Amino acid sequence: MCGIVCYIGSKEATPILIEGLKRLEYRGYDSAGIAVHDGKNVHLVKTKGRISDLEIKISNLQIRGNMGIGHTRWATHGEPTDINAHPHTDEDGNVFVVHNGIIENYSILKRRLEKEGIRFRTDTDTEVLAHLISYYFDGDLIEAVRRALADVEGTFGIAVIHRESPGRIILARRGSPIVIGIGNGEHFAASDVNAMIRYTANVVPLEDNELAVVTRDDFNIMTIQAAKIVNRSITTVDWKAEEAELNGFPHYMLKEIYEQPEAVNNAMRGRIDPAEAVPKLGGIEPVWDDLKRCKNFIIVGCGTSYHAGYVGRYIFERLTDLDVDVELASEFRYRKLNFPSNTFVLALSQSGETADTLAAIREARRKGAKLLGIVNVVGSSIARETDAGVYNHAGPEIGVASTKNFTSQLVVLTLLALLIGRHHNLSYTEGAEAIRELKALPGKIKEMLFQANHIQAIAEKYYRCNNWLFIGRKFNYPIALEGALKLKEVSYIHAEGYAAGEMKHGPIALINPEMPTVAIVPQDDMHEKMINNIQEIKSRKGPVIAISTLGDREVKKIADDVIEIPRTLDYLYPILTVIPCQLLAYYCAVLLGRDVDKPRNLAKSVTVE
Ligand code: M6R
Repeated sequence: MCGIVCYIGSKEATPILIEGLKRLEYRGYDSAGIAVHDGKNVHLVKTKGRISDLEIKISNLQIRGNMGIGHTRWATHGEPTDINAHPHTDEDGNVFVVHNGIIENYSILKRRLEKEGIRFRTDTDTEVLAHLISYYFDGDLIEAVRRALADVEGTFGIAVIHRESPGRIILARRGSPIVIGIGNGEHFAASDVNAMIRYTANVVPLEDNELAVVTRDDFNIMTIQAAKIVNRSITTVDWKAEEAELNGFPHYMLKEIYEQPEAVNNAMRGRIDPAEAVPKLGGIEPVWDDLKRCKNFIIVGCGTSYHAGYVGRYIFERLTDLDVDVELASEFRYRKLNFPSNTFVLALSQSGETADTLAAIREARRKGAKLLGIVNVVGSSIARETDAGVYNHAGPEIGVASTKNFTSQLVVLTLLALLIGRHHNLSYTEGAEAIRELKALPGKIKEMLFQANHIQAIAEKYYRCNNWLFIGRKFNYPIALEGALKLKEVSYIHAEGYAAGEMKHGPIALINPEMPTVAIVPQDDMHEKMINNIQEIKSRKGPVIAISTLGDREVKKIADDVIEIPRTLDYLYPILTVIPCQLLAYYCAVLLGRDVDKPRNLAKSVTVE
């Protein structure tokens, strides 16, 4: 959840670290710090608050040095304070450590070190690492880090420097990502490629239980346990630096909502063969023979990725003959799993690092399932741990609220369902129709984005309401869940997503003139039932904001406010209906003065359980 960035080369390290931290701030933003080695001494600056607070603190100091490590924190152990901010040091101020993850046995290790007379200063689990490394250090930093990590239980992505060891940064990973960036006469490292994409697109991700020694001109990777050298090839990421900039937008969330026509296009690019009406998904080829025989298919994910998976279940049921289930990864991992043979588990994840999703696929693997992934971040843990998969190529998603990743995940899910469906019973005509409609989606999304002012006006009318409902059925039930999640997380308004058919079983008791309901009612086979639900709300004086198909007069007659979407196939509607929900959440959050891209208590990538 936190962010790590490191630099070693011939340039001043401080501006590079600060710039990298700003790009990682979406991963955690309650405190931050840097440690810069000037060849003799290490300068440590850290503070509670944002990177901008750190910058202010640094501006009064003269920090020089060509090597350093930095961190932005999302607190797990210990309140966000100056003292609890990373980097952490040993008693003598020789060892400097930044850490993502959780040291589970830290209290045992702390007691052990305290018995040796070592005094602790912070409430963090990370401090124990600094003391342990110092305890084992006898001139060989690699050995000291290896011995310290051998004592540790839990997860870590770390970067370590030592005052007496200038010219090298030690990195290590178990369960929390660390990527080395290859420059010319310089190296970078970070928990996320976003931090260094401005400087290099050539990266080498560390695998679990690996350690790397990075110098200005070289890097060496080895196993933590046996110090066995590992050869790893360089991966080039296809993200551009400007994709991670605001480019004139006030917030990343809005920018990423507007990037959806392109993200949806990129998810399909080179994957559609209109002649055969069968998508081409090269990433699936390694398991295609098994997948053809598969009957039982389970989709897992968290948060917005789970909602995409939920829509995916309906799409798979519509286009294939598979038995499909969807589950929250955080629940699935604790189930007593008993799979029929040839079961596939598909993990959905933007970051590819979500701890619960990773744990879920590891458990599924243990129980004999084959693993697929739909992941955005190239080379991420889920991408590497699945047997096969597809990148959705949404580009960097910086806003904590997931938007463009969701719609592009839905496109890839549809392509995968089409591929399998065409192997099952789906006709050429249906396949060709799906492809035609998929290709029309970017244009239709653009059309919808022209309505942003109208949606902003609706947000102005309702943003003071403290409670909202979102309702939908079938393909659009998960959009009700997603609409409510978006509103909650960025505006802090209480919202609930409901299957519209459940209204009469309880939630209708909540309806009153102060509680708006967003009804997702496109013209599909659920239309009539949704109209009835809207009538029930209206007869109880509840305001209704309807998301309906262009020209739907019936909805216009009964809803208070209407947002129209272009016509498409029933199973593709969610790719359109979610966009007004994203914009409503965005504008409500702005009107309420919220920190849209960095909502309180959240982090972009949830790498702890
Ligand atoms: O990186 P992932 O897609 O695995 O992340 C899953 C959730 O943490 C994520 O979707 C979260 O719910 C977002 N804040 C939603 O906007």
